[in-house]
Amino acid sequence: MKNKKIAIIGANGQLGSDLQKALSDKLPYNIYPLTHADIEITKQDNMVEVLDNIQPDVVINTAAYNNVDESESNPQKALLVNSIANKYLAEYCKKKNSILVYISSDYVFGFDEKRNIPYIESDYPGPINTYGISKLAGEYFVLSICKKYFVIRTSGLFGIAGSSGKGGNFITTMLQLAKVKKEISVVNDQIISPTYTRDLAKQIHYLIRTSAFGLYHATSEGQCSWYEFAKTIFRLTKTAVLIRSIPSSLYQSAAKRPSYSVLENHKLKKLGIHNMRNWKEGLYDYLQEKGYI
Ligand SMILES: NC(=O)c1ccc[n+]([C@@H]2O[C@H](COP(=O)([O-])OP(=O)(O)OC[C@H]3O[C@@H](n4cnc5c(N)ncnc54)[C@H](OP(=O)(O)O)[C@@H]3O)[C@@H](O)[C@H]2O)c1
Repeated sequence: MKNKKIAIIGANGQLGSDLQKALSDKLPYNIYPLTHADIEITKQDNMVEVLDNIQPDVVINTAAYNNVDESESNPQKALLVNSIANKYLAEYCKKKNSILVYISSDYVFGFDEKRNIPYIESDYPGPINTYGISKLAGEYFVLSICKKYFVIRTSGLFGIAGSSGKGGNFITTMLQLAKVKKEISVVNDQIISPTYTRDLAKQIHYLIRTSAFGLYHATSEGQCSWYEFAKTIFRLTKTAVLIRSIPSSLYQSAAKRPSYSVLENHKLKKLGIHNMRNWKEGLYDYLQEKGYI
């Protein structure tokens, strides 16, 4: 049987680089990593030319405009990268009968301010910031154009590569801040599931081996506030710093964020391929791999 060709867009990002590791040397795949220098997904002609040279069976798009606060002052860019480029990719994949994998976000939720139980895939989305709106529009382009797609919503990613768009990730930011500040304030009223990109990459590998196309939630098990996340990082790395728990109302940011955006990996569990660990286990492995512990 011929190996499947998988193009990974955003290949040197946090998730992209872990996907390369998770899928390389695994039969029956040939991996084609595409960095931003190799492909510009917002330019349809360039995207078509690059993908035509590969003729992929599967396109995994991990590329995004990830800066949630900047998206408020640059909605054009958020919509172009996170929504419209995915329309182009969906049209391409439909035409070529390829499978499209689009990575979405827990920030498609947030409208329900009283929510305190995890969202499943059939819950109605309702974003409250430009980034979330742009990711949701990206989902709808994929869902409405392609037949063979996996839309995968995830949350609070951290990976060895760090996100260039965000200048690292929450963990690297906290550890940097601890070097220069005596006291750090972190919000206690936004609840998420921090997710190690290596765990997510493995889960994506299990999912794309199936043909159970559709919308999935894939985050670490368990939940915490950003404050609890930071506290755990400092405890595990034995970092001596004062950490103060504050409400979001005391933290100025351009974008509003959901107070609760925990996702339940309902459909992965139903399918019998669920493989996500608790976020603390992922965090421990990440810190070890980075040499922080
Ligand atoms: N990070 C999170 O906490 C989080 C949470 C939920 C969902 N997600 C979603 O998960 C996915 C992966 O996130 P991540 O943190 O792994 O991202 P990342 O580390 O920021 O990587 C994104 C990659 O995409 C590339 N890229 C950006 N714009 C592009 C364009 N127009 N054309 C081609 N490549 C482009 C970037 O290259 P350059 O840096 O060179 O531009 C970068 O290598 C994204 O879809 C994101 O929306 C992320």
